[in-house]
Amino acid sequence: MASIMRCSTKTGSPAEFTTDCLVAGRERALEVAESFDARALVEQCLAQAPENAPTVAALPGRIKTLLVPPVGRQPLSEAQFRKCAAQAATALAALRVTSAVWCLNDIKVAGANGQRDAYWKTRTGLAALSTAAYRYHEQKSKAPKRRPLSRVAIHAGPGERNQVALAVRHGNALDAGLRFARDLANAPPNVCNPAWLAAQANTLAAHAGVTVETLDEAEMEALGMGAFLSVTRGSDAPAKLIVARYQGAGESDAPVVFVGKGVTFDTGGISLKPGAAMDEMKFDMCGAATAAGALKAAAVAELPINLIAILAAAENMPSGNASRPGDIVTTLSGQTVEILNTDAEGRLLLCDALTFAKRYKPAVVVDVATLTGACVIALGAHASAVFANDDALSAALIAAGATSGDRAWPMPLWEDYQAQLDSNFADVANIGGRPAGAITAACFLSRFAKGFKWAHMDVAGTAYRGGKAKGATGRPTPLLFQYLLDRIASPAAVPKRKAP
Ligand code: BES
Ligand code: MN
Ligand code: ZN
Repeated sequence: MASIMRCSTKTGSPAEFTTDCLVAGRERALEVAESFDARALVEQCLAQAPENAPTVAALPGRIKTLLVPPVGRQPLSEAQFRKCAAQAATALAALRVTSAVWCLNDIKVAGANGQRDAYWKTRTGLAALSTAAYRYHEQKSKAPKRRPLSRVAIHAGPGERNQVALAVRHGNALDAGLRFARDLANAPPNVCNPAWLAAQANTLAAHAGVTVETLDEAEMEALGMGAFLSVTRGSDAPAKLIVARYQGAGESDAPVVFVGKGVTFDTGGISLKPGAAMDEMKFDMCGAATAAGALKAAAVAELPINLIAILAAAENMPSGNASRPGDIVTTLSGQTVEILNTDAEGRLLLCDALTFAKRYKPAVVVDVATLTGACVIALGAHASAVFANDDALSAALIAAGATSGDRAWPMPLWEDYQAQLDSNFADVANIGGRPAGAITAACFLSRFAKGFKWAHMDVAGTAYRGGKAKGATGRPTPLLFQYLLDRIASPAAVPKRKAP
């Protein structure tokens, strides 16, 4: 697995630090340079640097280099600060240094309700660093030679120490969860099959409060999960229903349940996908990876909540044994489904996983899935889609996305769309035609989310990138983790009582 980055908090005067690299805005950088008798040198570097690009200047002494990202006119908007942080983090990760101190709290940022505090700025900076410093080289025959950036301290100004320390604690926990999610999702599909996912999930049990159980196909069969099992029929890799539980609160505290789509490879089955970019369908388990990642982050942060991650893991393959278009299966809920397209497999896994989730008497259930190509058409790569049967839950998820910079946007779940799922032969069909494909997929799931507060996140556009920067993003782990933090901060705003 990718190496761990450890961040810490640093107080005191930056000019007195010892570090490979000090990251600071122009004014602070010049102040530090001054104390090294290198002001003229650094001024020259800054003057020669291309506009809007970070400047790197060597210093003679305890601080080896100065990295000066362009900040621009303050106060910055949140988006400008994110951009600035991303630029600094990318430049820092590209330097051949192993330690750094980052001064980002003297930058003024205008938020919706006044200035953003040191906690938010530190979290935002660490999120950028987490993204910039991540590498996946598990499958390269030679490990990279250079040592990665492993120690970064965030500078806390006077009176900011506690805020920054808490942000660092949360940032480190999120980084651990994100890395876990990304490593799982980036693994090749000949390695990452349902049994391998279960083995990886078992490692979560090393954290205090975490237990992991896995149901095999016989156990799912006995329960009556006919829709789930229909997906795996064509595969030689047995399906698994993985249940990771983190108990950070009292036994009677209703858990938050995250359900993740874990299709370790989606060929489409008998409704075979076209060949182009089919390799990317190894990312069809990103929902499961990020649900597990969020649980890891919560456990590392020792959050006072109960959380369950249910990972619905199966491989969707064509074979003589595979499900056919026209097959009718009986779900765990008792409803029957006509499979009109075997490529609409995610909802077949999730419908049974949602019914299964009900046994935990959840406070809320949030499922996460790379569910539809239609969602990519609707929102692209910038926002995940949120569908919910509860307005407060939807709003809380969208807000958590805005805070964490891992944005999501609401979509309708109106009754009007349900008719597209009518079947002549079963209770419901598994596809609703081309119009509003992301919505009809959510409508299908909604039929299995009765009696509890539920949200569905379609992350088909956000969970991974294709092309040159191909790889898992770890989204929406940051949003999910922030949602948990927000629940703790305002239990009244997110009632823990029973479902509607
Ligand atoms: N895993 C895909 C959805 C997907 C497509 C994710 C592209 C990321 C990028 C899903 O299982 C699927 O194949 N959905 C079908 C549904 C259709 C048959 C109703 C789709 O979107 O085409
Ligand atoms: Mn599919
Ligand atoms: Zn799929």
